[in-house]
Amino acid sequence: MLTSMPDLLSWRPKFPILANKTYLINNSLGAMPASVIDSLNEYTNLWATEGVVAWDTWLPEVANVAAILEDVVHAPRGSMTMCQNVTNALAEILSCIEFEAPRNQIVHCAGEFPTVEYLLDAQQRIGAEVVRVGTDPLVYPERDLLGAITGRTALVVISHVLFRTAELVDVRPIVKKAHEHGALVVLDAYQSMGAVPFDVMELDVDFLVGGSVKWLCGGPGAGYLFANPAIIERLEPRLAGWFSHARPFSFEGPPIEYAPSIERFVGGTPNVPAYYQAREGYKAIREVGVEAIRENARRQTEIIYAGALERGYTVNSPRAFERRGNHVTVDVPDGHRVKDELIRRGFVVDYRPGAGIRIAPHFYNTDDECRAILEEITAILG
Ligand SMILES: Cc1ncc(COP(=O)(O)O)c(C=O)c1O
Repeated sequence: MLTSMPDLLSWRPKFPILANKTYLINNSLGAMPASVIDSLNEYTNLWATEGVVAWDTWLPEVANVAAILEDVVHAPRGSMTMCQNVTNALAEILSCIEFEAPRNQIVHCAGEFPTVEYLLDAQQRIGAEVVRVGTDPLVYPERDLLGAITGRTALVVISHVLFRTAELVDVRPIVKKAHEHGALVVLDAYQSMGAVPFDVMELDVDFLVGGSVKWLCGGPGAGYLFANPAIIERLEPRLAGWFSHARPFSFEGPPIEYAPSIERFVGGTPNVPAYYQAREGYKAIREVGVEAIRENARRQTEIIYAGALERGYTVNSPRAFERRGNHVTVDVPDGHRVKDELIRRGFVVDYRPGAGIRIAPHFYNTDDECRAILEEITAILG
């Protein structure tokens, strides 16, 4: 019995893995759209036949790909640029800040993705004071985080959806408090892009960073950086390269004259093949619509959540759908082994230590698959 939304299920043949696996790990690596093969062929054919002239197509395509993501989050044209990953995008942002006392603090919480935490921690070497709020990564310390933002805060870095628990963070009070105190806010939207609908201008964050391997079904190598157009021209990244210059192809000596646009964050030569690869997933997400994806997740994550509770399993995600993203973290005894056995049996999920098995249905999954994985976990546990 396939009870999912029929127009969504018509997408299934476009994602080959779904024919062979129960693929429920879309918050870790989204399924590959079949059209990626043609898209990458288009890229290689250009190189093979046009040689260096391929750049005339490749370079505008980088901005075209970013424009798809601008549509997804309702960002103005020219406010997003592509980069390799979150680490690079965040490094670009950090390189705009001087971290001079007294405004030298970076505020974040303990549940952030490790790549973010490592990078923030390293800024202490150039004068930043890093305020890490909370100790338990399964608990989002909203009140303490708000309390930590003061006139000494230069930057607040928050995840939109926490990667372990799927907790959906209420971004607005944080942005309001940060802006009242003159601090900038970076939103790590990796776990919400393509899963939770939002308008980046309405959230009023200064920056958004993310990558493509998860709900966007874009594969590795394609990250992105949004900066609010109102502040772009006062940001001067130290991590700047020739593509950050106002006229890269005039090859001028230093000092750099920054591009008067988001391009100032580009740095070196763009990672073109990754963007040809990623654009296929982005287009699918834009066409399906994040609202429809979220509505589907409301029903399917409820099947998983309620089914896990009925079986007596611990669920390390907020109970209310409004307080979580589109995955559910189910903690069962010997979770790592259960995850391995699930994969052996064709149910693809992952496991995060201290949190549990993450189950993440996307628009192309069926309700039956969501029920079947719980039955399989029960069978494995005996
Ligand atoms: C919230 C979040 N941020 C960042 C990352 C990864 O960062 P990067 O793109 O630098 O690999 C992940 C997972 O891969 C994540 O879940």
